[in-house]
Amino acid sequence: MLEIWGRNPLQGNVKISGAKNSALVLMAGSLLCPKDCRLRNVPSLVDISRMSQILTSLGVKLTKNGDVLDIDARDINPTAAPYDIVSQLRASFFAVGPLLARFGTVKIPLPGGCDIGARPVKLHIQGLQAMGASVLIESGIVHADVKGSNRRLQGAKIYLDYPSVGATETLLMAATLAEGETTIENAAQEPEIVDLANFCIAMGAKIYGAGTNKITIVGVDRLHSVDYAVIPDRIEAGTFLVAGAITHSEITVSSAIADHLVPVIAKLEAIGCRIINEGENCLRLIPGELKATDIETLPYPGFPTDMQAQFMALLCFSEGNSVISETVFENRLRHVAELQRMGANIRLKGNHALIQGVPFLSGAPVMSTDLRASAALILAGLAAQGKTIVRGLHHLDRGYEDIENKLRKLGARIERVTESN
Ligand code: EPU
Repeated sequence: MLEIWGRNPLQGNVKISGAKNSALVLMAGSLLCPKDCRLRNVPSLVDISRMSQILTSLGVKLTKNGDVLDIDARDINPTAAPYDIVSQLRASFFAVGPLLARFGTVKIPLPGGCDIGARPVKLHIQGLQAMGASVLIESGIVHADVKGSNRRLQGAKIYLDYPSVGATETLLMAATLAEGETTIENAAQEPEIVDLANFCIAMGAKIYGAGTNKITIVGVDRLHSVDYAVIPDRIEAGTFLVAGAITHSEITVSSAIADHLVPVIAKLEAIGCRIINEGENCLRLIPGELKATDIETLPYPGFPTDMQAQFMALLCFSEGNSVISETVFENRLRHVAELQRMGANIRLKGNHALIQGVPFLSGAPVMSTDLRASAALILAGLAAQGKTIVRGLHHLDRGYEDIENKLRKLGARIERVTESN
């Protein structure tokens, strides 16, 4: 568990790690390539270890040295992914697109739901079917095959009912090795999609329009080796900016790409802080008097659902009434009950949280309910009076590299302790 003594001012600079959600999909993307792939700026996280286990179970050879990950996917078995790891890491399902595109066959367990919602993969599967795959789901396992002599997926025009990040990534990867041209309309526009496209382009793929809502991919016969650096984690950067705001502390975050953080910066400014772009991917947070604002989570470039819980912690201390509406995931407000234990004044109405700012929260024992909720509880603890104990750190360790050391270096009083029974 983490013990946090609140109300210590922070100062200094924090170094942001590589983006979890980019690194995960780039690792899956490396399955497209029968040559050496080198990924740099890969964070050390439980989710990355789980993805490594999935790749290893397929026969991939992996070597990690610091934040550099070497991937050799020459000799692999596209049907060997085990359920126990896929069920723990939904992102491992991203392997379906590359494996099907490269081998014309794949067998992979359906990942199932998780702490924040049901998380269907219907759009991924429909898109692969549109590209000529026959898909059978039996006993919880997806079997996909491409018929025909060369077993290649065929380029197709695909419209996504919703700009799903995962579906866009799956189909983009699948289309890189398909025969002919694929267009994905109503595609997700997240920076992680652009990173994936740039990674595939660096391997020789032909991809146009990533970062817009229409992506065109012209299939190529094969991809070549690559040496590529993952983008900085915009959600980790946003979380630290909120740490500055909630403790009224001037801090800088680097490397953070301001363009990836536009909605987060806009909301921090609406709440009363200033963000100065100091160049060289360095952002300075100047704290201010916190005031209420409304937030609705949306696909990029809307406000990210992955920052919703952290902003809720901040709005608990902001003067006035705020409304947070969670529109992306159906079960991502469970941190409300934990913040209430610390004295927050929040009412839930469906997917809306009505927050009335209070002058202070009191430290309390709280339980993480998912990855971003765990960050929100740490943030609340940094600003609360007294000691907060955050349990359920398996969520936190999935997605924040070394968070307590990074916070301690900024001046926070935070310790990871092993609970004695
Ligand atoms: N959806 C469908 N059908 C589908 C696919 C998605 O209805 O076939 C729905 C989902 O149920 C959800 C919405 O679309 O309600 C958004 O899901 P999306 O597919 O966009 O999300 P994802 O790819 O499963 C990624 C990130 C999440 C992040 C979301 C939204 C990774 C590994 N995960 O998930 O990250 O919240 O995009 O930005 O990239 C996190 O890091 O904490 C996290 C949950």
